[in-house]
Amino acid sequence: TMGFKVAEGPDVEDDWHNFTALNIPADHPARQDHDTFYLPAPDGEGDEGRLVLRTHTSPVQIRTMTAEKPPIRIIIPGRTYRSDYDATHSPMFHQVEGLCIDRGVTMIDLKTALIQFARAYFGPEAEVRMRPSFFPFTEPSAEFDILRDDGSWLELAGCGMVHPNVLQAGGLDPEIWSGFAFGFGLDRLALMRHGIDDLRELFRNDHRFLSQF
Ligand code: FA5
Ligand code: MG
Repeated sequence: TMGFKVAEGPDVEDDWHNFTALNIPADHPARQDHDTFYLPAPDGEGDEGRLVLRTHTSPVQIRTMTAEKPPIRIIIPGRTYRSDYDATHSPMFHQVEGLCIDRGVTMIDLKTALIQFARAYFGPEAEVRMRPSFFPFTEPSAEFDILRDDGSWLELAGCGMVHPNVLQAGGLDPEIWSGFAFGFGLDRLALMRHGIDDLRELFRNDHRFLSQF
């Protein structure tokens, strides 16, 4: 288990936890990367007061930082929602977030944790890679891919070093604490492990499919 405890948060989130506290202010173009399902704002409140179906499990990073003192080592499984629909995207899916905050945490700790997980879950032959990417809430940022039998790479997770603004939003001093975070697509992990072609099969409730597990 590498010493990670399980934490959870609500499926219906406020705008601040899902976006603003994660260094994604109201006018930030990164909001468009998440095809968000919005709930109407309560009367008299603007967009800042509106609720969303959480687009990722990252808001629970903020909830944990504001509730607990470091060192923090948690994983956060849960349902997540986006207006997406194809063989590798479902409108309701699952993520498993990881968050590690301590003194002197580095990118090497992140890479080690991801590779150890991949070897344990997929076996020692699994071919994985980390590739530079961008998230407003991590710096530097990367994505974590696995090689499929057909030679193409499938993205399994986003990850990176927790951005100083995010530590601050969680009430932590970035001069003292550093951390890494990752967010795996759980359904994609299942797809790779069980050789499923279309991730939406997981949600179609076809008994012939489900009874194989
Ligand atoms: C995120 O959601 C970031 N919150 C991940 C993260 C966490 C980055 C912590 C840095 C630090 P992204 O949008 O890439 O990133 O989604 C993460 C993973 O969720 C993807 O790699 C993919 O495996 C999965 N995923 C995303 N959208 C869908 C979908 N519609 N259906 C199924 N899986 C999805
Ligand atoms: Mg991505």
